[in-house]
Amino acid sequence: MLSREIKDKLMERETPFYLYDMGLLRRTLETIRTESSRYGFKVHYAVKANFDEELLKVIREYGLGIDCVSGNELRLVRSLGFPASSVVYAGVGKSDKEIRYAIEEGICAFNCESRQELQVINEIAGRLGLRARVALRVNPDVDPHTHRHISTGHADSKFGIAYTEIEEVAREFASLEHVELVGLHFHIGSQILDMRIFEYFCKRVNTLLGWFREHGFPIHYLNMGGGLGIDYERPDQFPVTDFADYFATFDRFLDREGMEVHFELGRAVVAQCGELITRVLFEKVNALGHHVVIVDASMSQLIRPALYEAYHAIENLSARSAETGTYTIAGTVCESADVFAKERTLPRLQRGDLLSIKSAGAYGASMASRYNLHDFPESVYSDRL
Ligand code: LLP
Repeated sequence: MLSREIKDKLMERETPFYLYDMGLLRRTLETIRTESSRYGFKVHYAVKANFDEELLKVIREYGLGIDCVSGNELRLVRSLGFPASSVVYAGVGKSDKEIRYAIEEGICAFNCESRQELQVINEIAGRLGLRARVALRVNPDVDPHTHRHISTGHADSKFGIAYTEIEEVAREFASLEHVELVGLHFHIGSQILDMRIFEYFCKRVNTLLGWFREHGFPIHYLNMGGGLGIDYERPDQFPVTDFADYFATFDRFLDREGMEVHFELGRAVVAQCGELITRVLFEKVNALGHHVVIVDASMSQLIRPALYEAYHAIENLSARSAETGTYTIAGTVCESADVFAKERTLPRLQRGDLLSIKSAGAYGASMASRYNLHDFPESVYSDRL
């Protein structure tokens, strides 16, 4: 892991900050390019995972398209030179202003999440004298067996158009002059590592495709969303996730003849290249005898442990001996949930020690807030050190 290799350079820096291994990002993107191009798959990067401009510039070099979910994300990627034709736009709540902007830019497709949204896109495109390309985001009712907060494709979720309503919505296209149905979009959830879930998902999509074909809707574009997970427990051993298996699963199980197949990956692209570097402020022992270590980062910089009880591996970069301790590692803000790890055994910790919280490149900096009026975290890039 990068922080271990360059720890001397990091010691003097003010903490907390995000450290990005740009070499690892490049290796990840290289793998994505190789493995997706075997099958002619097109990959979009889900900007919500991390909108850092330096990362985005490298991602652009590898020819990925973009999956955005707000007008501001679209504006950012356009300013960095991503072609509008490579951008898809999802999100359950697009404002009229955002829709207008995306139509004017001429994006590849809206991933449309409701019947009403379809009507609004049609109206706005009509007013602009333009035609908007739309993929219907269908909720396929697949349980991804992941954390409930990052599961999106089950029947009771707010996302997408219910598969029970899809017939009606598809027929509506005939009466809407300013939208063009380009295809179908799905996204079932995030941090999925079991390929059998993607296999089941492909089979659900094949069934839906059958319906569209039978009813005379020629679908040539499928966007299968994102969701590929990473190894949070063993980031050193598996810094690049298994893209080969992932794409091969879709090649094998998706009925994709004559179809352009797109993906929207976020976490798998950037999670492992980012670490949150923080320093031990204080140590204490609570009434139950638990050792509590307070670090200078918090849920304001990395909210995943507080929000999802997510596991992130932690390393003591200042370790001096083989002696260990078992710690609760907590952040600075005034919330009981602001804990990075419980019962974690690490080389003995003391004030001033530098820690790396690993696998923090996705949904880390992009979910940061200024709660307790902390500063937004700085970013440090390996190729600038
Ligand atoms: N496409 C759509 C429509 C999405 O909603 C998402 C993520 C993605 C693609 C990218 O999914 P990924 O490849 O990253 O799994 N904050 C949570 C994750 C939320 C995911 C939201 N949607 C976390 O930290 O685990």
